[in-house]
Amino acid sequence: MNKYRVGLGVSGGIAAYKAVEVMRLLQKSGCDVNVAMTRHATEFVQPLTFKALNEGHVIVDDYDPANPDPIAHINFSQNIDLLLIVPATANIIAKFANGVADDFLSSTYLACTAPVMIAPAMNTTMWEQPATQRNIEQLKTDGVHFVEPVSGELACKTVGTGKLEDVDNIVRQALSLLEIGTDGKGNGENHPGGESPLLLLRKEGSLDLAREHVLITVGGTREAIDPVRFISNHSSGKMGFAVAEAARDRGAEVTVVAGATTVEAPAGVKVIKGISAREMFDGVMAELPSATVFVGAAAVADYAPANAANAKIKKEDKDTLTLELKKTPDILSEVSKRRKDGQIVVGFAAETNDVITYAKIKMGKKGLDLVVANDITQSGAGFNTDTNIATLITKNGQVELPLMSKREMADKILDEILKLRKA
Ligand code: CTP
Repeated sequence: MNKYRVGLGVSGGIAAYKAVEVMRLLQKSGCDVNVAMTRHATEFVQPLTFKALNEGHVIVDDYDPANPDPIAHINFSQNIDLLLIVPATANIIAKFANGVADDFLSSTYLACTAPVMIAPAMNTTMWEQPATQRNIEQLKTDGVHFVEPVSGELACKTVGTGKLEDVDNIVRQALSLLEIGTDGKGNGENHPGGESPLLLLRKEGSLDLAREHVLITVGGTREAIDPVRFISNHSSGKMGFAVAEAARDRGAEVTVVAGATTVEAPAGVKVIKGISAREMFDGVMAELPSATVFVGAAAVADYAPANAANAKIKKEDKDTLTLELKKTPDILSEVSKRRKDGQIVVGFAAETNDVITYAKIKMGKKGLDLVVANDITQSGAGFNTDTNIATLITKNGQVELPLMSKREMADKILDEILKLRKA
C-alpha cells in the first residue's frame, strides 16, 4: 500500500469550489481521495465536478439511490487514513463538536477512527461567535487538527478572519499529518514503497525549509518565589507554536523549548521543557549547535527572585513583602554571541510605544538578523490572541504585516528567513 487514503468532506460554503483543487493536489501527491459532500455543499459545487476528476463514487448522503453501499458512512470512515473537511462551516463544526449525526458527513465523523483535520471558512462574525469558538476548542480537546482560516476579503465583502487557508497550505498540512502521524513520530522517510507524498513535495522544492533545523523558544517563563508561587506573564505560546507548525509543514526539523503555554505543541516537533528562564537557557544552549535558525518567540522574564524560598513564605502579619529580583540570562543575546556561520537569529520585540525605534535598537543590541516588532496595544495583536499585527525588520528593510492569523504570520516570518538565507 503506497497510497494514503483521504476522505475529503465538503460542507456548504462559498469556498466549496476550492475543495476541488485540494482533491487535485492530494491526487497529484499520490493520495486516493474519496469525496463526501453535504447537501448544502452541492448548492455551491456540483458532485459531477468531483466525479469527473475522480474514479471514486462521490457521496452526497447515505440514502442516495446511486450509492451502492448500504452502510456507507461506516465503510467510508473505516477505509481512510485521514478525514479532511474543506471547507468546514460553523454548522458542521457545531455538529462534530456535539456528536450530532444527522447526515452522512456528521455520521462519518462519529464513526471515524482516523485523524481528522478541519479547514474552516466563514464570515468573520460567525467565526468569532463564542459558540463557534467554544465548539472549536471542544474539537481541539477531542484531538481534531485545524487549519486555521486566514484574514482577507471575504465573500460577503467584509475584511477579517474567516477566509479558507491557501489550498497549498491545507494540502501540505494534511500530508504532513499523514506522514508524521498524530503521535508525532515518523519523518516522511519511512513511507512504504518509498513513495512518500511529503518526500515527493520535498523533491519538488515545495518544502523550502527541508534543509533547516529551526530552534524556537515558546511561551512564558515562570520564576519561582517559593515552592507555591511564581512570577510570570500572559504569553500563551500561540505565536511560537505557529512558527513551529509552519516550519514543520515546510519540511524543517523543528525543536521547541517551551515555557508555560496555554496551547498544545503541534505534532511532529521535538519539545523540550524549559519553564524558568534558566531552564530555557540550558535547553536552548544544548540544542543550539545543531540548529540553523533560532527564533526567540518566548516571553522570557527579564528578572527572577534573587533567592527563591525553599519553603512556602508565610504572611506572619507583615503588611509588605519585598522581593529582590536579579536579571535572568538573556537567551537571545547569548545565541547571537555563540552563533556559527550561517545561523540565522530572529527575535521578537513587543512594545507599547515607539515600536520601530525600540525594535531597531533591540536588533542592534542583541545582534539579530530579523526582528518581529509588535505594538501590543493594537487590538488583534499581542498576547493570547489568534491574530497578530507586526513589522518585520531586517538590515535590508521593513515589511508591514497587517492583521492576520498567527499561522499566516508564521509563514511570512519564514519567508523572510528564507530571503536572508538566499542573500
Ligand atoms: N529574550 C530572551 N531572553 C531573555 C529576555 C528576552 O531570549 N532573558 C528574547 C525574547 O524571546 C524576545 C526578545 O528577547 O525575542 C525580547 O527582548 P527583551 O529585551 O526581553 O524585550 P523586553 O523585555 O521588552 O525588553 P525591554 O524591557 O528592555 O524593552
